[in-house]
Amino acid sequence: MVDPRVNVIEQRLKRITRIIAVSSGKGGVGKSMVATALALSLVKLGCKVGLFDLDFTSPSTHIILGVEGIQPKEEKGLVPPMVHGLEYMSLVYYSGNQATPLRGTDTSNALIELLAVTLWGDLDYLVIDMPPGIGDAVLDLLRLVPRVEFLIVTTSSLLAFETVKKLSSLLRELNVSILGVVENMKMNDSSDVKWRTEMLGLKFLMGIPYDPKIEVAIGDAAKLLETSFAQRVNLIAQRV
Ligand SMILES: Nc1ncnc2c1ncn2[C@@H]1O[C@H](COP(=O)(O)OP(=O)(O)OP(=O)(O)O)[C@@H](O)[C@H]1O
Ligand SMILES: [Mg+2]
Repeated sequence: MVDPRVNVIEQRLKRITRIIAVSSGKGGVGKSMVATALALSLVKLGCKVGLFDLDFTSPSTHIILGVEGIQPKEEKGLVPPMVHGLEYMSLVYYSGNQATPLRGTDTSNALIELLAVTLWGDLDYLVIDMPPGIGDAVLDLLRLVPRVEFLIVTTSSLLAFETVKKLSSLLRELNVSILGVVENMKMNDSSDVKWRTEMLGLKFLMGIPYDPKIEVAIGDAAKLLETSFAQRVNLIAQRV
């Protein structure tokens, strides 16, 4: 039987022009930082933006944004609170900060539930921070929201890039739009990843150098926007 909530989801997302999932085959490459800075940059460019933390393994955008003590409002659904000019929703509201991660069907159910109950406003962009890896979350999201576009984050490491190949080939098989690849935490000016990306027929969106000033900006959105990291992400925002 088709879950009746699935039909509701399409209705819920109707007022959103574009939905961008920030994803990667490997963990710890900077998805959450990129997703958060991208959402903030799009706000700065004058767009109406939502940020949706769907990382079931360890939601972290609320820490990056310094969001504390606010909750979505219940009005026949959940109204995302406004945080630094963006509509913000996180799985952390749903699961709390419990130590046990959601598993298996619980993950699917939470994803469906959250997509079905969240009342987004009229948005130009909804940016989604995805959990690491090519797992159920990617497949569930695509099943529920087929029009989502993917932005793939990698580091310069061959190990990370290997997973870009896998993720992009899966997305292609499923006819999903791939905006391009971001190479994060670059330690040198090698264009190896750019070259490899283009060999795959994908767009190389941006190289972002390793920025030691990021750590002290965690929890302070204004400070984050001042970093050279955010300046690079701002260029991505102008290109997507
Ligand atoms: N360009 C950068 N320069 C320096 N540090 C960075 C950069 N990008 C991300 N980081 C740091 O690397 C760590 C991992 O970043 P982040 O949590 O965004 O990765 P992630 O891909 O979302 O991880 P996960 O797979 O666990 O969700 C964080 O401590 C973050 O501050
Ligand atoms: Mg993350």
